[in-house]
Amino acid sequence: MHVHEPAAPPARTRLIVDVDTGIDDALALLYLVASPEADIVAALCTAGNVPVDQVTTNTLSWLEVCGRADIEVAAGSQVPLVAPLMTTEDTHGPHGVGYAELPSPSRAPSSRSAAQAWVELTREHPGELTGLVTGPLTNLALALRLDPGLPLRMRRLVIMGGCFHHPGNTTPTSEWNVAVDPEAAKVVFDAFSIMPADRRTIVCPLDVTESIEMYPEHVSRIADIVGVPLSEALSPDAPRGTRSSAGVPLVRHISDALRFYMEFHRDQGLGFLAHVHDPFAAAVALGTVPYTTRPATVDVELDGRLTRGTTVADLSDMWKRSLNTDIVAGTRPAEFFDHFVERVGSYIRDLNLPPSKN
Ligand code: BDR
Ligand code: CA
Repeated sequence: MHVHEPAAPPARTRLIVDVDTGIDDALALLYLVASPEADIVAALCTAGNVPVDQVTTNTLSWLEVCGRADIEVAAGSQVPLVAPLMTTEDTHGPHGVGYAELPSPSRAPSSRSAAQAWVELTREHPGELTGLVTGPLTNLALALRLDPGLPLRMRRLVIMGGCFHHPGNTTPTSEWNVAVDPEAAKVVFDAFSIMPADRRTIVCPLDVTESIEMYPEHVSRIADIVGVPLSEALSPDAPRGTRSSAGVPLVRHISDALRFYMEFHRDQGLGFLAHVHDPFAAAVALGTVPYTTRPATVDVELDGRLTRGTTVADLSDMWKRSLNTDIVAGTRPAEFFDHFVERVGSYIRDLNLPPSKN
């Protein structure tokens, strides 16, 4: 078991982010935008929680609301490599951002595809970029088809996906991002087996991300830092679908998005909370949270009658294959949330300050 504590101060990380925005993807993007350690070179869009055109619109719009309309956004494939596309509006709302009503974006996506962006950006910045994938791995797998030499040009890859000693959230044994495109996940795990130990892929599985439970109280704390009252909109006792009236758009959107996500989790019998998988993976990519890892060889079941899309970890070298992942095995969720709330709250507060007269 390896222990990773946040460095002080953490180094700057140049990121390609690949998302299926998605409520928790949106929170991950906001967290990264708010983080001085993060330099986001592009946000690439994958079909997953909602179809890719909606993911692209959401990502463009969200980055604009977050004050970062300068970040390149590229659209990816409409469909997984082999599987028919499945989406999950039940979890993330009809448009992927819960009850939030985002403004239409004022710009179009990049003229290049997400797969081309993976290839070209890693050629422009060899050895520098950390890839953070919080959606299915379709775009990265397509990029590997175009350019099998891509992994060694990356500094590291961080994935939110899979589950190992923990129930699935899509089938009894599979996690959503892997279940949507199992062939792509296998292509990526296989291709990144080539990475040296100090740049091994980090996987953030459900085993840990389901301990990242966000509650209304966390959103109240963000609103307090911003200096706006949250009202009762995110109370578990408020009627289903209650919208926030917060005057600051980002606070309103966070509340409206999370209200949907928390209602979904409550409908699953988990209480009025939301598992925010993707912001945790973002913090792992930046090295701003404590976590432990276990080295493993990970492969993906493609054929099982009941187990297609299941991630299997060999922790004891039974397969006699090279290690290809460091699996995140634990963290301290309260510390993550203290950091997340402070960072996101102060970013929104500063974004809304009137321009200084000096
Ligand atoms: C993952 O699936 C998606 O619904 C979330 O955005 C997250 O990336 C969790 O299984
Ligand atoms: Ca996601």
